[in-house]
Amino acid sequence: MYTVPKLTDFSARALDEAKEELLAAMAVEAGDATDGPALEEFRNRWLGRKFGLVAQVNELWLKAAPGSAKREAGQRVNEIKQRAEELAEKHVKAIAKSILNARLRAETLDISLPGIERPLGVRHPVLRTLDELISVFVKMGYSIAEGPEVESDYYNFEALNFPPNHPARDTQDTLFIANQEQRAQRDRLLLRTHTSPVQIRTMEKSAPPVRVICPGKVHRNDAPDATHSPVFHQLEGLCVDTNITFGDLKGTLDHAMKSLFGSAVKTSFRPSFFPFTEPSVEVSISCPFCGGKGCRPCKQSGWIELLGAGMVDPNVFGFVGYDPKKLSGFAFGMGVERLAMMTYNVDDIQQFFYGDMRFLEQFA
Ligand code: PHE
Repeated sequence: MYTVPKLTDFSARALDEAKEELLAAMAVEAGDATDGPALEEFRNRWLGRKFGLVAQVNELWLKAAPGSAKREAGQRVNEIKQRAEELAEKHVKAIAKSILNARLRAETLDISLPGIERPLGVRHPVLRTLDELISVFVKMGYSIAEGPEVESDYYNFEALNFPPNHPARDTQDTLFIANQEQRAQRDRLLLRTHTSPVQIRTMEKSAPPVRVICPGKVHRNDAPDATHSPVFHQLEGLCVDTNITFGDLKGTLDHAMKSLFGSAVKTSFRPSFFPFTEPSVEVSISCPFCGGKGCRPCKQSGWIELLGAGMVDPNVFGFVGYDPKKLSGFAFGMGVERLAMMTYNVDDIQQFFYGDMRFLEQFA
């Protein structure tokens, strides 16, 4: 470690030698000062006001110099002081720069990296099917009506001409809300088993003519298997006006099925029963996969059953204050999942509800 020597010889040559030796030591020490604390130490050691090496040089080389050498000694001492300050200054800048560089390096953004991809979602196949169905009927002038999923017994059953305790209620495996016993039966709450209650609500609210479709989620107490799910979707429709006939029902559904499955598809209407329609029908379409020859989706029959439908029962008009003598209408309903399974060749309805990306990604 360098220490300032006392001088006996104050000749210019001796002063220069001492100065060079000191500056060499100073340069080495300054070179070692590569960070803030080390530089602080360098400053204290060399430029400290009382005991710094520059102060010592001042004592030992200038003050101790005989009068004749004071000028020469003073010059060197000044040079040394200036040099020490310069070095300190230069290092402050260098250190500040290296700190800045390190920060910039740490904050560097590599714009060539691929980044975080946030894939856009797609419509769920069930909703996509529902949308297609909706658009077919919207084009025919139907508007969309929605209603609550938690319904009262009145809207889900009574106003649809299911009398209390009528066996037809058994066909709709209903999930009832608990602890409703104190209420009158018509007010008891349940999860709607079909979207038909929306048709009642629509007729209560608006005067005829009515043309609505009622899409939505419905619930039935069915054990889940490949073709049953306790939650599924329906699209129902209602048309009420003067002089609506069974011919209108057939024409409308035939047109809708042709829009969905192609103009080669045929429709077939067979008698059935629903409490809210009379007469009632089950509607099948000729199998769009095999053209009617028989294949797996149509179970070799050539036909696929898709809808329930019928002419609105006059009793239903009675519940909503429509005059059955002046008005007539038809209604229809279908399961959306069933249609989606057919459209996308899905053989297990549960796939729609698992939320498994491997299944859903196929629709992206
Ligand atoms: N609401 C019936 C059901 O869910 C379907 C349907 C609607 C049948 C309209 C005929 C007329 O089973």
